[in-house]
Amino acid sequence: MKELPSCRKILDLGAGTGDLSFLTIEYCQKQYGHEPFVVGVDLSHEMLAEAKSIARADPKRKMPEWIQASAEALPCGSAGFEVVVSSFVLRNLQRAGVLRACVAETFRVLQKDGCLLWIDLTKPVFLPFRCLHSIYMNTVVPLVGRLIFGKKWPGAYLKTSIDELLPADQLTQIFLSCGFSCFEIRPYYGGLVSLFMAKK
Ligand SMILES: C[S@@+](CC[C@H](N)C(=O)[O-])C[C@H]1O[C@@H](n2cnc3c(N)ncnc32)[C@H](O)[C@@H]1O
Repeated sequence: MKELPSCRKILDLGAGTGDLSFLTIEYCQKQYGHEPFVVGVDLSHEMLAEAKSIARADPKRKMPEWIQASAEALPCGSAGFEVVVSSFVLRNLQRAGVLRACVAETFRVLQKDGCLLWIDLTKPVFLPFRCLHSIYMNTVVPLVGRLIFGKKWPGAYLKTSIDELLPADQLTQIFLSCGFSCFEIRPYYGGLVSLFMAKK
């Protein structure tokens, strides 16, 4: 969150049940003393319905605006947002073959000098840690996943989507070709998660 600059208009791409939308509002309130206007976009009606009911359950929460739409074709005007945040969506976009279109849409809706801050799961950088991670993803994660989610557990999707995430040079090429500058991938926790940052 510390990379989130003081801003008034934020778009949360693939907002799901709204965790990141709520977090950005709380962070701006605490850190900068104001509440930003947050728009959460997601393909899924069910996810957004859950986000709305979470927001309603706590009347003190500021309600973001929720829009059901695809990140490929955002029903938003151009240059309307200072920041576009997103958590755990990039892999889905790549798997669906729409990553470039979504990066281009993000570029369109960002103001000049606006920034993109996307976070996602990635593979550890250090080889021994990467091997342990692979074993863990092949054994513990599916076991716990099936115990908790039963038949709803999406099998190998999690591991495969992490394994198949494009290498840094190809991701850089996509973001730069859509007009972004200063594209950076910053690993955290040894690379288990990474922050993808770029500027318009
Ligand atoms: C793993 S969930 C992450 C949700 C939320 N960002 C979070 O961190 O809890 C991925 C979300 O991306 C949404 N999504 C996938 N493809 C999308 C697309 N093309 N446009 C908009 N949302 C999309 C899914 O509906 C889902 O809610």
